Amino acid sequence: MHRACAAALLFVALLPAACRRGSDSAPAPAASTSAAATLAKVHRIGMSQCNLGEPWRVQMNADIARAAATRPSLQIVFKDAQNDSLTQRAQVEELAAQGVELLIISPKESAPLTKPVAEVYRKGIPVIVLDRAVDGEEYTTFIGADNRRIGREAGKFAATLLGGKGNIVELKGLMTSSPGQDRHQGFREGLELDKNPGLKLVFEADMQWLEPNARKEMDSALAAQRSIQLVYAHNDPGAHGAFLAAKSAGREKEMKFLGIDALPQEGVRYVKEGILDATFAYPTGGAEAVELAEKLLAGEKAPKRITLGTRLYRKDNVERGGEEIR
Ligand code: FRU
Repeated sequence: MHRACAAALLFVALLPAACRRGSDSAPAPAASTSAAATLAKVHRIGMSQCNLGEPWRVQMNADIARAAATRPSLQIVFKDAQNDSLTQRAQVEELAAQGVELLIISPKESAPLTKPVAEVYRKGIPVIVLDRAVDGEEYTTFIGADNRRIGREAGKFAATLLGGKGNIVELKGLMTSSPGQDRHQGFREGLELDKNPGLKLVFEADMQWLEPNARKEMDSALAAQRSIQLVYAHNDPGAHGAFLAAKSAGREKEMKFLGIDALPQEGVRYVKEGILDATFAYPTGGAEAVELAEKLLAGEKAPKRITLGTRLYRKDNVERGGEEIR
């Protein structure tokens, strides 16, 4: 049994809900002594996830749940917006109305979620924005990796891999979300097209982070282009979808595939299997968000932004656990 829960059992008559976790129930009633009151305090945190259809998001929620499991004073109420911004907006409002003391959100898109996030923040509820940004400054802290940097590293890697010459396809993540925009911009910077005139971006499309869309877009790219040397997809499901399209056209050996995310059971496995040439780690930030939530609820101050690192997994380093990008 967890130590804090064991201690709370001393006050068992007073604190019926102290060890209850993860439910949507109200916190324990106030206890009569101040020590008991401290133990009784369970902070409810709302977690608004934009979808759980993608393995990376399932991992983020698992990271949050695992970090919260070691902190008995935190209770997380999870909501899944099923990839719909209006649903996510309604769920944010619902969490605030239910009286959560802190909100963690990984928004689907910036524009439709900016106002609901700002409204929660204006009520004095701390808001941690994870992975995809909202516009403006009305939130407490943003936690995420530097997507522009990852895009730039992918661009440099592609230019080197191709020896400065070749036709490139870019399959973009949802361009109304900040990682899509940043991974695109960074990639262009990393390619240095002015210095590498032999590199040609011959096809680009928004696959909205989804493997089936990436597969369809890649079918179009293959139909339009007789020769493709590299596919850069903004996430590993996209890169995998492109690979499957190329394979069914019998053309997968003609080109290299780059992705982003590097989940062990997804991108890293694809690199090990020789499907992808490289993938860049994109940490979920789930554990960091819970750690910060605990501090904020204890009244500590937080930085406006916490930037997480990345790693590059290539065929030749994947068995060694990839390499940190500095
Ligand atoms: C999951 C996902 C990841 C990607 C991230 C960007 O929804 O598409 O694959 O790295 O979102 O926000």
